[in-house]
Amino acid sequence: MKFKVKNICCIGAGYVGGPTMAVIASNCPSIQINVVDRNIDRINSWNEEDLNKLPIYEPGLSDLVKKSRNINLHFSSDIESCISNADMIFISVNTPTKKKGIGAGQASDLRWIESCARKIGEHSKGSTIVVEKSTLPVKTAQTIKEILIAYEDKNSERNFSILSNPEFLSEGTAIKDLEQPDRVLIGGEDKDAIKALEDIYLNWVNEDRILTTDIWSSELSKLIANAFLAQRISSINSISSLCEVTQSNINNVSLAIGMDRRIGSKFLKSGPGFGGSCFKKDILNLVYICNHYGLYEVANYWEQVLSINDWQKKRITKKIVEKLFGTLSNKKITVLGFSFKSNTNDTRESPAIDICRDLLEEGCKLSVYDPKVKKNQIEKDLIFDKENISNLEIANSINKACINSDAIILITDWDEFYNLDFLELSKVMRNPRFIFDTRNIINAKDASNYGFRIWKLGDGIFQ
Ligand code: UDX
Ligand code: UDX
Repeated sequence: MKFKVKNICCIGAGYVGGPTMAVIASNCPSIQINVVDRNIDRINSWNEEDLNKLPIYEPGLSDLVKKSRNINLHFSSDIESCISNADMIFISVNTPTKKKGIGAGQASDLRWIESCARKIGEHSKGSTIVVEKSTLPVKTAQTIKEILIAYEDKNSERNFSILSNPEFLSEGTAIKDLEQPDRVLIGGEDKDAIKALEDIYLNWVNEDRILTTDIWSSELSKLIANAFLAQRISSINSISSLCEVTQSNINNVSLAIGMDRRIGSKFLKSGPGFGGSCFKKDILNLVYICNHYGLYEVANYWEQVLSINDWQKKRITKKIVEKLFGTLSNKKITVLGFSFKSNTNDTRESPAIDICRDLLEEGCKLSVYDPKVKKNQIEKDLIFDKENISNLEIANSINKACINSDAIILITDWDEFYNLDFLELSKVMRNPRFIFDTRNIINAKDASNYGFRIWKLGDGIFQ
């Protein structure tokens, strides 16, 4: 049966659902889109008149919301009626790692996926295409299918087609990634449903970028893409430590190896370890699946990507303590950057969280500045006991964060940190003053001219 999609419902108004639907709405004016979420505060923020108050900071997103909101893009908490009016439903809810029970610490918690499937089963009408947008363990489509089949109405036209359409956007460049994707992947069995989803993308994506596969390969490809990307970062981070002890520089090494087209230049930037909602969760999931199938060597191999990532974060704190004469008590440390990467306000799995927690454990006072992360989010991520509250300060400028500070730790590569005003900072900081540059971005010679002692991750000269 041929589908012509007129009404989309997206369940989950998060970092994936929000931007994805804003881009579809902008490119498909004839389709009505309702983005729903069980979190009413989040929906209210999406409907804020002041576009600076949208729940997600993402370059270019507010312009798209301004263009389409209340025209063909709607944010609603009326989940049931939006489901029943939709002919295509995207599931874009989060799938965190299970905290307890079988597979705790590795497997994905699919409870939200299941509850979405049940809601869709209860409220949808006619023929409905259900699209998995969230990254899911292989064979989740089967679970969704089994739940939906139970709701299929044998006598009427109520039926479901399930597609996997994983989203590959990176936060911070989400709109660009969605507008010009390397590829759009659609997995499924029902050719008409695949065509209906393909037709939506064809409004702005070239045909040769749209790849259709079976559903399991599609689900698995998303996990593996993330595992490969994370593996590159752990590989380069492992070498950063070698550069530090051999008077070489990791940026030079990245450049040299990246010019080999077989290797490629992307994802070779060493740093404080990868963060974000996906990499760790997806690799844990991959490890869980491999163990489940008895592929223990494969599971161990991928687990190493995570071990190196944890080690990288830990060794940064160790280095700071060592350089600051073995103790942080009575010292103030300034942390510049708290989001897991630049151009997003997302802090999920940010290396800043682990590093700040370790520093607080060492007994220092901590002052944190981030251009986009809100004060209450930083507090939520860091406050784990009463002592922390008095040792933590959130500043609203670089300069204020550095007053009376002994050291700056640069954790996120926000543009404004590339050219720090060393003269101004030297006036407000204590002596001796240090900069720990975990992104290897500042001009160390300039900084040392203003009396800073420098440590740069992966740089064997400034150690
Ligand atoms: C991402 C990706 O979509 C996914 O691939 C990955 O597996 C997990 O994280 P993201 O959009 O970044 O999702 O997550 P988040 O910003 O947490 O948004 C999910 C939204 O779904 C939240 O706003 C949450 O309130 C909502 N939700 C969750 C529902 O509306 N219903 C539910 O049952 C569960
Ligand atoms: C990732 C994938 O890139 C994306 O395709 C998928 O859909 C979701 O997961 P995201 O986590 O949003 O996207 O951002 P990404 O740009 O991949 O960065 C992840 C982490 O790796 C960040 O902490 C970033 O700082 C770090 N990173 C990235 C490096 O340390 N070095 C690099 O060279 C690239």
